[in-house]
Amino acid sequence: MHKHHSALGVATALKPAAPVTLIRPDAAARAARFFVEKFPGRSLYAVKANPSPDLIRTLYAAGITHFDVASIAEVRLVADSLAAMGAQAKLCFMHPVKAEEAIAEAYHRYGVRTFSLDSMDELEKIMRATGDATDLELCVRLRVSSEHSELSLASKFGAEPGETRELLMATRQAADALGICFHVGSQAMSPQAYSDAIERVRAAIVEAAVTVDIIDVGGGFPSVYPGMEPVALEHYFEAIHRGFESLPVSYSSELWCEPGRALSAEYSSVVVRVERRRGNELYINDGAYGALFDAAHLGWRFPVELLRDEAGIEPMEGFAFYGPTCDDMDHMVGPFMLPADVQAGDYIEIGMLGAYGAAMRTGFNGFTSDATIEVEDEPMASLYTESVTPRRRATIIKLGK
Ligand SMILES: Cc1ncc(COP(=O)(O)O)c(C=O)c1O
Repeated sequence: MHKHHSALGVATALKPAAPVTLIRPDAAARAARFFVEKFPGRSLYAVKANPSPDLIRTLYAAGITHFDVASIAEVRLVADSLAAMGAQAKLCFMHPVKAEEAIAEAYHRYGVRTFSLDSMDELEKIMRATGDATDLELCVRLRVSSEHSELSLASKFGAEPGETRELLMATRQAADALGICFHVGSQAMSPQAYSDAIERVRAAIVEAAVTVDIIDVGGGFPSVYPGMEPVALEHYFEAIHRGFESLPVSYSSELWCEPGRALSAEYSSVVVRVERRRGNELYINDGAYGALFDAAHLGWRFPVELLRDEAGIEPMEGFAFYGPTCDDMDHMVGPFMLPADVQAGDYIEIGMLGAYGAAMRTGFNGFTSDATIEVEDEPMASLYTESVTPRRRATIIKLGK
């Protein structure tokens, strides 16, 4: 079955009763090429942002050959997804607290050699699980500030200044290649986040007096959402390049990054149906336990568009959404700007959900949908092209399930 549709076409021709994920492989490939061409080092895709096998293959085909995985299931997923296209990637197991069995399987069965850690306990665990391997790339994760980011990653992981020296020296002894990594928090709204974190790296290297082979600046690269419009990614790359070049180890080390959100946000959107209107609250058929986790739990806003054949002349108003489950928390406060006459039966496209959207979907209360359709129109916003406003539109699509 092949069909030709835009987002509007999906709504008007198919009238889906359940949410439909629209995927845009061209947008993901464009993001990948951007990182491959412009980031001054190597870019790993952080699979947790969106573990879709199709996306993994799309990114690989566009030049992303290294993947940041955080669980043994992600190791298997990437290996299997790429084996299906006869390809093999380098997998880096960058969760600082892993199950020993997961390390052993990754090392012995999948050839993973790169692991992160932030404690002596984890270093010992990795050595045990790999049989004291001598071919390991071990990245010590430093704790850095999340002050410039919308989503903190500053509490859970990362060695503190007081423990870094001993850990770096011990890891240097054990590793074939020693790395230092950090994560500035997700959706970092200023390049300063990276400059500051690289200063922390400098202090750690000077204090421990070790040679370092990899500097990994992690994820955190932003996408664009209503109310969160970052400066161009080139400014982030420049700040990182400047900081890296000024490190005492830059002549002998590789520079890596691990974007998740920035490579996947534009990949997908969701078409939902309005089941009821109550004042300026719309009851829609996806929500907090579906692809809208961040809209519900972080209060993030996403771009929305009413999918009607005829453009109306109604003024725009702010709406809140309720998701489909029988749960008060299934509430997205927005405001989401839509024409004032939106009503039950209307379809809405919610954009920029490729990162941490589909990946967070649960089947809670019996509401879930894996219906997916590939479209060829542009995403609702983009950091990689200026041609998406006023809105996009091509028409041809291939179909999904
Ligand atoms: C170790 C690591 N790397 C990369 C990422 C991806 O981050 P982002 O999606 O903000 O780019 C994460 C996200 O949690 C992470 O934990």
